[in-house]
Amino acid sequence: MKKIFLKGLCALVMLMTSLIFASCGKKAAASGMLESVADSLRGRKVLVVYFSRAGENYLVGKVDKGNTAFIAQYIAEMTGADISEVKAAKDYESLSYEEMLATVREEHEQGVMPDFVTDLTEADLKQYDIVFVGGPIWWGTYPRVMLTFLRDINLDGKTLIPFTTNEGSGLGKTKAELQKAYPNARVLDGFSITGQEARQPQARDAVKAWLESFSFDAADHSTTADAVTGASRLQKECTPEGEAMTENKTQVVEVTYSDGRKETLEMVVFGSVDMGDGVLWSATNLGANNPWTPGNHYAWGETKPKKNFTESNYTYLKKDIGADISHTWYDAASVLLGGDWQIPTYDHWHTLLRNTTHEFATINGKKGHLLKASGGQLLFLPGNGYIYDETVGTPDEGFYWAANDFDHTNAHVTYLPVNSWGQSNYGRYIGIGIRPIRIK
Ligand SMILES: Cc1cc2nc3c(=O)[nH]c(=O)nc-3n(C[C@H](O)[C@H](O)[C@H](O)COP(=O)(O)O)c2cc1C
Repeated sequence: MKKIFLKGLCALVMLMTSLIFASCGKKAAASGMLESVADSLRGRKVLVVYFSRAGENYLVGKVDKGNTAFIAQYIAEMTGADISEVKAAKDYESLSYEEMLATVREEHEQGVMPDFVTDLTEADLKQYDIVFVGGPIWWGTYPRVMLTFLRDINLDGKTLIPFTTNEGSGLGKTKAELQKAYPNARVLDGFSITGQEARQPQARDAVKAWLESFSFDAADHSTTADAVTGASRLQKECTPEGEAMTENKTQVVEVTYSDGRKETLEMVVFGSVDMGDGVLWSATNLGANNPWTPGNHYAWGETKPKKNFTESNYTYLKKDIGADISHTWYDAASVLLGGDWQIPTYDHWHTLLRNTTHEFATINGKKGHLLKASGGQLLFLPGNGYIYDETVGTPDEGFYWAANDFDHTNAHVTYLPVNSWGQSNYGRYIGIGIRPIRIK
């Protein structure tokens, strides 16, 4: 009822000013359709529906067109889609950025479902096969006004493609929200870009590159629980491998340090260790069953180990799979071990590296870094090298992925060369090791 009233209100306002007509109206986008996209979309009708907020915002100042609106416009132009803006009934645009943060926090805490305004009717919606659903990320997901839209407007059974602008959260939980709202929809991988970048002319090229490499017929990642990001993955049972790693085995090992000193220490050799940061660090690399074995290498976001790592065989070349892939379809630790296992984020590594002492050491013939926590807990990170083509480079040095991207082509890596350590970034297609964690 509320929605119909709001639609009536919208129609009235549309009569009154052409400016608001532009923001409420569903309209065909200007031409500029990409030929390759036209071919793959033949016979299918496409809609871009999005929310975007003008006003004062993080990093971009006071703007009269929101960041996501740029991306929505490019997608509509390049796919020949109709475009429809979802407006909030509430006036968010006159609020300062700080006021917005407080408002949105309150909405989350109180589970508010804000009213929306749309010009879409059920009859309209029937004609669309593919819907791009866009918005900024607010508090890790679509703005709650978009969640009301997803609750009230039926897009079930269609192919849905999320897109977002954000300042670090990538697609956040948008894929999961779509799948939750529409269990029979085919939810495909989406596009995300930072709000600042969305306003630059290069954003048009980024959207173009994405659409040109996009498969509208891709296998649906999201109909299984595995494909849903974040929270749903956390509910997944441990695999037998992940379950085995919840029990600890300790062993006495002989450690030889780089200056020749020797020490006999008892350490967890299988299972996990709290290094004082509240995180349980696996004692072993993914694919290894003791700390002195390097384990498998993975390209960032891929979940199957391989021998040959090149740009051309990298599954996600030029594809945005999110700024933080932990607990997603792209997290090899989550996929292979299940439960709470995940790839550590940049921050997990940062805290671990700064709160422990490090010594370059050899255990059972394998060189690596022995980390000691203030309570005496030990973690051995063996040299594993990186793999480019089929060649393992610098096998005595440690290379471990973080779950966070660095930019469009690189991701964060913890780098452990002989007698030193740091955080760096490497091409996502390169083979690098994974040390899983569980959060307590
Ligand atoms: C209230 C609020 C909450 C936000 N929360 C997040 C967030 O959780 N993660 C993130 O990456 N960016 C967050 N941002 C940044 C926006 O996603 C980003 O500025 C976006 O480009 C805004 O798009 P728009 O101009 O289309 O509304 C937030 C911004 C606001 C105003």
